[in-house]
Amino acid sequence: MNTFAEASGRLPLLGHYLTYRSNPLAFISGIQHKSNAKVVQFLLGTNRVWLVRDWSIISEIFGNAHEVFAKGFGNEILRPAIGGSLFFSEGEEWQFKKQVLLHAFGSSGVSESKSGIRTTVRLSLDETDSLLAANAPMSFAHIQCMTMRVLGKVLLGREFLHDHPVHRAVEESWQLIEESSKVFGRFWMAWRGKKKKTWDSHRNYLENLSREVLFDTRDSCLMDLTELQDLDRRQRETFIDDVVSFLIAGRECIAVALFWVLDNLRQQPKDWQSRVDKDCGKARTLFIKETLRLYPPIWMMARQANRGYEFDGLHCKKGQIVFISPYAVHRDPLYWSDPEKFQPERFQQSPAQGYLPFARGPRACIGQGLAMSILRLFLDEILQSNREIHLSKAVGVQPGLSLRPLIA
Ligand code: HEM
Repeated sequence: MNTFAEASGRLPLLGHYLTYRSNPLAFISGIQHKSNAKVVQFLLGTNRVWLVRDWSIISEIFGNAHEVFAKGFGNEILRPAIGGSLFFSEGEEWQFKKQVLLHAFGSSGVSESKSGIRTTVRLSLDETDSLLAANAPMSFAHIQCMTMRVLGKVLLGREFLHDHPVHRAVEESWQLIEESSKVFGRFWMAWRGKKKKTWDSHRNYLENLSREVLFDTRDSCLMDLTELQDLDRRQRETFIDDVVSFLIAGRECIAVALFWVLDNLRQQPKDWQSRVDKDCGKARTLFIKETLRLYPPIWMMARQANRGYEFDGLHCKKGQIVFISPYAVHRDPLYWSDPEKFQPERFQQSPAQGYLPFARGPRACIGQGLAMSILRLFLDEILQSNREIHLSKAVGVQPGLSLRPLIA
């Protein structure tokens, strides 16, 4: 394998921006799969970007070199929303936040919450059934609403029925963040005028909700299992952005994943349907893992080198932008045979390389265990209760900050 390749077709000043902008997912997968190089370079305007394909470089960026490759570039758009959260913090601040939150999000916290998750999953499915007219399809919005209800109960001990204002606040906040990510290089413009007002009112609402959760008594929930109790008022305040980030980003990722799990369930040959039906243990987890391979909700991650760094034979300069795309890696023939085929049995053994739906290393997703439990319990409940789900038909994907379905 070569060390470097340069994507073809760049324009003066714009570089590859127009092709990237018109379909970022097709552009990224295309240049990654066509090249025979560890790193493919392209230009977004005057910004030179490294798209990393090589697994040892990816592992180093997320592992030993994670402090050098900080969350930069495209992540800037999320800063007004959740800038003070674990997601963005670095160094000692990040270690402190992680230690406070880890107890709740670790395996013991999540398994303590399992029976609560199961009950809320059932209630949320019942609520959706009652809202749907006979034979009407279950839309992505219904799935978002169910996910929010489950997250609200499990994380915050709150009951978010379908008409609760939190649904609108979270969805419109996500859409504003998404929209501003499209105004390449001019993020500030999207946050002015009417949009800024809408943003501020939702942000205030979510901030107050988070404050209530952090300071008031509540039903038992995951946030109760954090080590927040030991903190003084000022320190607790610093976790407001964390709660907001769990609501906005946690809901988005789980809802996108759940949609694709249900979509795959509908499309699979009867063989797999009956396997996941009968074998309520392993087969269902394999099914979810394979869905996350083909449809990783976070399809791309960006980093920026805060100093020069040497890989084996490659020099990365300070300020260099680095992209790693779980979508492109998960469908890369270098790592997967028949990559486009849905084959859950490939996860009988854990893949040694080429799989990172929750990223890797110290900055991997803290909500991974919770997300997997929620997805499993939805699948269990749907299969065990023989519910007929008529899902809206997806005709493709919408590669924004997440990988939402494109509905017919
Ligand atoms: C299927 C569902 C989910 C997927 C696929 C997912 C994926 C990811 C990925 C890829 C990252 C790394 C992003 C980057 O480094 O640029 C991440 C980080 C993170 N995720 Fe998730 N996530 C999911 C659900 C959740 C949930 C439910 C929560 C919390 C309620 C959560 C909280 C976080 C946090 C706080 C981080 C930052 C961790 C750190 O920097 O130390 N995620 N997630």
